[in-house]
Amino acid sequence: MTEPTDRPRIAKRGPYPITVQTGKRYFWCACGRSGNQPFCDGSHKGTGFNPVEFVAEENEVVHFCGCKHSADQPICDGTHHKVGGC
Ligand code: FES
Ligand code: FES
Repeated sequence: MTEPTDRPRIAKRGPYPITVQTGKRYFWCACGRSGNQPFCDGSHKGTGFNPVEFVAEENEVVHFCGCKHSADQPICDGTHHKVGGC
């Protein structure tokens, strides 16, 4: 069965807390298909989705969106409470 590629896959119904390092670049998976959540592993190929770059401004814990429906990508904005069935 083929999966629709016009919608992101819900990787997790909640954020991934990740400790980031100042100045480091991260590529958040927007498609939800990566096997290395919450980051891109190239699995978006052919889906029309592309990763979203995040550059850490300080050493801190960032809550990256796991549901892929945040309006504040790549950061969780609480939308995961509203996303329906996958
Ligand atoms: Fe996507 Fe919270 S995990 S908005
Ligand atoms: Fe999801 Fe690259 S694997 S955006």
